[in-house]
Amino acid sequence: MSSLVTGIAELVTNDPTTGDGSALGLITDAAVVVADGRIAWVGSAADAPAADDRTDVGGRSIVPGFVDSHAHLVFAGDRSAEFAARMAGQPYTGGGIATTVAATRSASDHELLTHLRVLVAEMRAQGTTTVEVKSGYGLDVEHEARSLRLAGQVTEETTFLGAHVVPAEFANRRDEYLKLVTGEMLTACAPYARWADVFCEPASAHSFDGDESRAVLTAAAAAGLELRVHGNQLSAGPGVRLAVELGAASVDHCTYLSEPDIDALAAGGKALRLDGRGTVATLLPGVEFSTRSPYPDARRLLAAGAVLALATDCNPGSCFTSSMPLMIALAVREMRMTPAEALWAATAGGAMALRRSDIGRLTIGARADLTVIDAPSYLHLAYRPGVPLARALDL
Ligand code: NIG
Ligand code: FE
Repeated sequence: MSSLVTGIAELVTNDPTTGDGSALGLITDAAVVVADGRIAWVGSAADAPAADDRTDVGGRSIVPGFVDSHAHLVFAGDRSAEFAARMAGQPYTGGGIATTVAATRSASDHELLTHLRVLVAEMRAQGTTTVEVKSGYGLDVEHEARSLRLAGQVTEETTFLGAHVVPAEFANRRDEYLKLVTGEMLTACAPYARWADVFCEPASAHSFDGDESRAVLTAAAAAGLELRVHGNQLSAGPGVRLAVELGAASVDHCTYLSEPDIDALAAGGKALRLDGRGTVATLLPGVEFSTRSPYPDARRLLAAGAVLALATDCNPGSCFTSSMPLMIALAVREMRMTPAEALWAATAGGAMALRRSDIGRLTIGARADLTVIDAPSYLHLAYRPGVPLARALDL
């Protein structure tokens, strides 16, 4: 079965060899043919071949489905009061994670999976077609493995985050928790995870310092997992440089960066351009919005040659939104990325952060993840913030 999609006022392919030759590869008055869930043809409507059926999107634009490469969706409980307290002046420290751990451990598989499916559907309804999902609210062998098993029912991009915080029962025994995360818990979780992650900050009760993070990441790599890092969220800590040194696919947050951190991310970008195996800097501007923190310096990173992705970090504490269009609007308004840079980061950038070449672009053979924008141009994503213009196209 093949389907011809027509009526596309503007098509973003993320293939610079098509259309206007920009990084977005913009084609106006375009058409797409999809066969067996893959892109079979892309070009001007005037040249479109025949197909078994036809969908007319009526003068709207189409972009690659958003790739949300950072989300924490396996959880139960509510932390809206923590958000209200923050808006009244409390800082975000990560201390609230313990509340979610307690609620998540007490929830049934059915409750967690139902909630997970609701969030994934909420994302798809806003144009997200791939989402990475982390564990990290179980923090014992049984509940971390369960979180990943459930995450695997909604995505291939599952991430073991046993090193999210040191749980209360290990408060005075950090070394023992580290042994668990790098031993028994890793063994139980590895079969369900593609990735491993760690919340890396300078010594704090709520995160893991550079040495601890290195131990977590090297054990995970030895167990066959690929690496990603929460780095430099609360301070200019060791996370960014450690991620680049260990060849992580992405280091996420990058809110507080020193000069050597920028240099490391520039090197990570250079490696990506060479063979796709470098480190992406994933910016999560919803976190700065929801914790009232300074935004990362995207312009400085771009000028240095870093490769950027945008993701939501959807989680009950630091940022409870599932909206990639909001990330694009924040990136443009608050971080001075151009609308084109922001859209690229939310699609192709996210795909690079997940080391995927079959998503984030609309090229022949790629997955037919089409997102429709209810507007004549992708520019409306940032131009009309908060308006529900984007949705994944069901063919
Ligand atoms: O990416 N910083 C660590 N983890 C999450 C927040 C988790 C939470 O507060 O529940 C983050 O911001
Ligand atoms: Fe996160």
